Amino acid sequence: MVGSDHGGLSLKNELAEYLSSQQVVVTDLGTHSADSVDYPEFGAAVGRAVAAGEADFGVAVCGSGLGICIAANKIAGIRAVTIHDVTSARLSRAHNDANVICLGERLIGAQVAKDAVDAFFATEFEGGRHAHRVHSLDALIAQQT
Ligand code: RB5
Repeated sequence: MVGSDHGGLSLKNELAEYLSSQQVVVTDLGTHSADSVDYPEFGAAVGRAVAAGEADFGVAVCGSGLGICIAANKIAGIRAVTIHDVTSARLSRAHNDANVICLGERLIGAQVAKDAVDAFFATEFEGGRHAHRVHSLDALIAQQT
């Protein structure tokens, strides 16, 4: 599941193509043109699709990777992280059970982005001492409703 605003369009398209070449089934939730759009719509769309179980993971891109990550995190069950390097991508899965990786097209090179996405998809959640912390994260949203 991939999505972006106009600021992340090129990197989103490149990552979608890359993931497809790795035999990952990719659904592109847009945006599909360089016209200016609002990142909350696309971050939420990626989040909703992952929360609904339509994909194990989401990839969300905007100019900085920040706004679209905030949007995705508004959806219950989503643990979205803005990533700039491979180590953070790996740790976000191993320790935080992150399910949406967010990237900033204006801040990260395409190769680092691909390597980070590879690490994100390849790393299992370690569970153990991290499990109750992740449950506590999800409970924060439940407590608000
Ligand atoms: C769009 O210009 C830009 O603000 C957006 O892509 C993102 O960086 C917001 O966080």
